Amino acid sequence: MVNTAVTLSGLTLDNPVIPASGTFGFGYEFADWYDINVLGSISCKGTTKEPRFGNPTPRIAECSEGLINSVGLQNPGVDKVISDELPKLAKVYSKPIIANVSGFSIDEYAYTCARMDEQPQVGILEVNVSCPNVHNGGMSFGTSPESAAAVTKAVKAVTKKPVYIKLSPNVTDIVSIAKACEDAGADGISLINTLLGMRIDLKTRKPVIANKMGGFSGPAIFPVAVRMVYQVYEAVKIPIIGMGGVSSARDVIEMMLAGATAVQVGAANLIDPCACRKMINDLPEVMEQLGIENLTDIIGGSHNG
Ligand code: SIN
Repeated sequence: MVNTAVTLSGLTLDNPVIPASGTFGFGYEFADWYDINVLGSISCKGTTKEPRFGNPTPRIAECSEGLINSVGLQNPGVDKVISDELPKLAKVYSKPIIANVSGFSIDEYAYTCARMDEQPQVGILEVNVSCPNVHNGGMSFGTSPESAAAVTKAVKAVTKKPVYIKLSPNVTDIVSIAKACEDAGADGISLINTLLGMRIDLKTRKPVIANKMGGFSGPAIFPVAVRMVYQVYEAVKIPIIGMGGVSSARDVIEMMLAGATAVQVGAANLIDPCACRKMINDLPEVMEQLGIENLTDIIGGSHNG
């Protein structure tokens, strides 16, 4: 019998597979498809202080091996998330969840994290400093070590829960940003968010997406994500949640060999709502094929020797 359990900042997950924020709603929407309690955890829809309608449509562009989104952090705002969404999730999911939080100022990040900190369901706060689809917020906090550290410090001051900072790949040196977050007190790092991309309609000769650009995700970005997880693992001591194009149980193993303790699955949920369950079901067989007894043994395994 193989052991798929992993531990993130004292929180033991039955397996490392977690649907990524923005690709799985608040989780309960998937409960008609399968028993979502098989999931290691759920990273819920990114939440902001105020409700957000999001960006104008069209805001999705299909690509080979992936898609571009420019959703723009659509969400009902932290009050409604706490009063409506989290209770609905609690009815169908009994494990600790990851609250994904975004903001347009450091105070907003701190406010929303403080509110989420009060929620017993929340096991980890995932602070998104990497959304490429909004101005004056999101990614602008994650593109310099100083601003990423400032957000980390402000959030750490208002919560006792583990704080993971979700980083952008749209930078020249992700390692220095990850290090700055660790030095500022982050308990973990989530990476990578989407790569800034664009499509142009050949007939209209205009960008497909109303906001012109958006975040590219899907299998095409998997090698970039593996590379960045590998680099960050070499530089920090805190755990990493790896994500970016993960599409199979073998991808989960590869991400963990690069240095991830747990793995988020994003675009794959949009292709198959049961993608995470399939990966969880496939994991034991893939582990046996590869001679892995305990999944924790392989974390960062590609760095040895
Ligand atoms: C969005 O809502 O625009 C996507 C969130 C993100 O990429 O961080």
